[in-house]
Amino acid sequence: MSSSSVAAPSLSKLQKIQELESSYLLQNYGRYPLALDRGKGVYLYDVDGKKYLDLLSGIGVNSLGHNHPKITKVIREQSAKLLHTSNLYYHEYQGKLAKKLVEISGLDRAFFCNSGTEAVEGALKIARAHGHKISPEKYEIISLENSFHGRTFGALSVTGQPKYRADFEPLLPGVKFIDRNDEAALEAAFSERTAGIIFEGIQGEGGVLPVAGSFVAKARELCNKFDAIMIHDGIQCGIGRPGTYFSYQLLDPVVMPDVVAFAKPISCGLPMGGILMNQRAADALGSGMHGTTFGGGPLVCQVALEFFDILEELLPQMRRVGEYFREELRGLQGKYGFVKEVRGAGLMIGVELDIPGKQMVLDGIEHGLLFNCTHDTVLRFLPAYILKEKHVDKSIKLLKKIFAKY
Ligand SMILES: Cc1ncc(COP(=O)(O)O)c(C=O)c1O
Repeated sequence: MSSSSVAAPSLSKLQKIQELESSYLLQNYGRYPLALDRGKGVYLYDVDGKKYLDLLSGIGVNSLGHNHPKITKVIREQSAKLLHTSNLYYHEYQGKLAKKLVEISGLDRAFFCNSGTEAVEGALKIARAHGHKISPEKYEIISLENSFHGRTFGALSVTGQPKYRADFEPLLPGVKFIDRNDEAALEAAFSERTAGIIFEGIQGEGGVLPVAGSFVAKARELCNKFDAIMIHDGIQCGIGRPGTYFSYQLLDPVVMPDVVAFAKPISCGLPMGGILMNQRAADALGSGMHGTTFGGGPLVCQVALEFFDILEELLPQMRRVGEYFREELRGLQGKYGFVKEVRGAGLMIGVELDIPGKQMVLDGIEHGLLFNCTHDTVLRFLPAYILKEKHVDKSIKLLKKIFAKY
């Protein structure tokens, strides 16, 4: 047989998908070599049928796991009835969901949009509009170094990580960054020009780092003193993930923000974000000052209502399983010297290493375990809320195999 007639080895399903994407898709994502096909509960299956224990749930989005029967039923039924109304008209579910969110957050009003970054944009607009009513000079926003708030211009402007910002400068003027938990810097940053402060209760992308209660209390005191808006970004660390609805509810005493941004888990995989606010903040945004075409449609709202029905019962289990997971991970600390610290709340868990973690994520894929690595050295676990102790045991077994190589 001549060499020209030798058939080229056929491409795998994954390679075919990769080839198509690399030809036609914007090359902005660094994907892992894994093409997913379907999911059930806490498990995912790739295009070749290989099974994975999913400890990342689409970066904290698939809150009830994959293919939850109650969620798929709501989606099936509502999609056959009505998908989109626009915000020109009423439908049955937006008010019901707003009531639920107001009850669980302790705030007064809700607004719905479609993503985390869009929620942050709205929250920043509230702070700016509130400041503007007092003085045109009152537009400064304080944010934290190492934070992540999203990719649109406003959210990027308050994201305290140069690697995300550098290519797009100049960004919004009047943003001051201070170190997390630095109360002296916080006090120095505030003035009559401050419109608001934004921070995550637990920095997610920054490496699962909690903001201290005393810092939050100080921020509250300064917001009161200077009539500024305190924005809690609960997009990753909220709506159940920390074992409470929001991470500010973990503080003792609870420190209430004026505005809360939420997104990721609320609609179980469908795109939904939103803002919660007290009346003082709500008064800043009058009719016509903010809006969105897709936000708060009947499908996402109904799924979110179903999610809340299930979440209420899951919260105690989430706290228990999260604590168990952290304990088991701490057990690995003694055995593997490179494990520096285990931290987090509820089912938001970070493991700080003193070596890079990227290769471990790839090893995880080999072993059928999905998690990621943030800030180069922090393994991050954001599993579905239905995670049980038996899944933790399986994860620890697999992590031992992964860690053994290092
Ligand atoms: C704390 C926080 N804020 C905002 C965002 C942006 O959300 P989205 O990617 O939905 O725009 C994220 C996303 O990871 C986040 O973790």
